[in-house]
Amino acid sequence: MVKVKVGVLGATGMVGGRFIQFLKGHPWFELQALAASERSTGRTFAETVKWKLEGETFSQVADMEVRPAEPKALGDVDLVFSALPAEVAHKVEEDFARAGFTVFSNASSHRMDPDVPILNPEVNADHAYLVEEQRRRRKWEGAIITNPNCTTAILTLSVKPILDAFGLKRLFLVTMQALSGAGYPGVPSLDIVDNVIPYISREEEKVEKESLKILGSPEKPAEFRISASCNRVPTLDGHLEAVFAETEAEAEPAEVAEVLAKFEGEPQRLGLPTAPKPPIVVRAEMDRPQPRLDRWENRGMSVVVGRVRRDAALGGVKYLVLGHNTVRGAAGCSILNAELLKAKGII
Ligand SMILES: NC(=O)c1ccc[n+]([C@@H]2O[C@H](COP(=O)([O-])OP(=O)(O)OC[C@H]3O[C@@H](n4cnc5c(N)ncnc54)[C@H](OP(=O)(O)O)[C@@H]3O)[C@@H](O)[C@H]2O)c1
Repeated sequence: MVKVKVGVLGATGMVGGRFIQFLKGHPWFELQALAASERSTGRTFAETVKWKLEGETFSQVADMEVRPAEPKALGDVDLVFSALPAEVAHKVEEDFARAGFTVFSNASSHRMDPDVPILNPEVNADHAYLVEEQRRRRKWEGAIITNPNCTTAILTLSVKPILDAFGLKRLFLVTMQALSGAGYPGVPSLDIVDNVIPYISREEEKVEKESLKILGSPEKPAEFRISASCNRVPTLDGHLEAVFAETEAEAEPAEVAEVLAKFEGEPQRLGLPTAPKPPIVVRAEMDRPQPRLDRWENRGMSVVVGRVRRDAALGGVKYLVLGHNTVRGAAGCSILNAELLKAKGII
């Protein structure tokens, strides 16, 4: 197979680094170009990056020149993965789509546009039809496809099987979110060591709105009510989320655990290269999932659910779900979206 040539925008950041790790040796995609801000352009990746990731190193791109995040500067690539800050992404991603590139974005700027899908591939692969509509409406050959905010990606993967099997009336969520979620250098150490910060700017609104768009249809958001309370905690990677679900039908905790463990989506059915099997790992121990022990399940692409138990106050179930925020919640999800659209012949 001829590989698709890809570029990464925001390559020197936390999510950019995960793209570089996940694209190494990818069977369908060949990383050809890296772009970042003026601070980095014109230098090699090794000269400019402040690499903070464990695991795979960046040796394969060490000598690649970092280019400006402009369509003309990226040269001969077919699609781009974007890990740009939202305030930059809004215009830059549109410039790329207008110039004919398909953009797989991690930024929030376009997620709520009515003709832009927020794809979490096991959850709403059917929303991919919006790509054609977007091209028609905006009269551009490229496209913008977003993946959810990290917390939303992890949450919605665990909620989808419950919504389908039992229905949902209300959902409450309390998060414990890792430091890498704030990018680099992120939260100052004097603010977060020995502490929990009970506020993450715009996070609760994003989780609430995006989840309903993903779990409903682009025209009609899902109808259950959702309330999130988001906290920054001093873990490095892996968002832990406590979920409280009021179901429509009676839901026994053991039944819910079984539905979650058996769940598969289109990426698994199509056998996509980055699809985790299973996408949801259910643990029986009463003290799991834990960020340090569980965030790398299936290369960080699976979410891990535990402590599924009855919620007496709501009449439903409560559980914990953990996911790797820069992998399942960002770069890994974007790459799986690109695989999905390629397998469906949309790109
Ligand atoms: N971290 C997560 O867990 C996570 C999860 C889901 C989604 N996201 C989203 O993903 C995006 C990237 O997040 P991150 O955590 O990787 O942030 P980050 O570590 O701060 O990295 C930002 C990247 O964008 C580049 N950049 C900044 N300003 C630019 C400009 N004006 N033009 C071109 N490039 C520019 C930076 O390049 P320089 O190094 O040259 O400054 C760097 O490569 C954000 O939109 C974020 O909200 C993050």
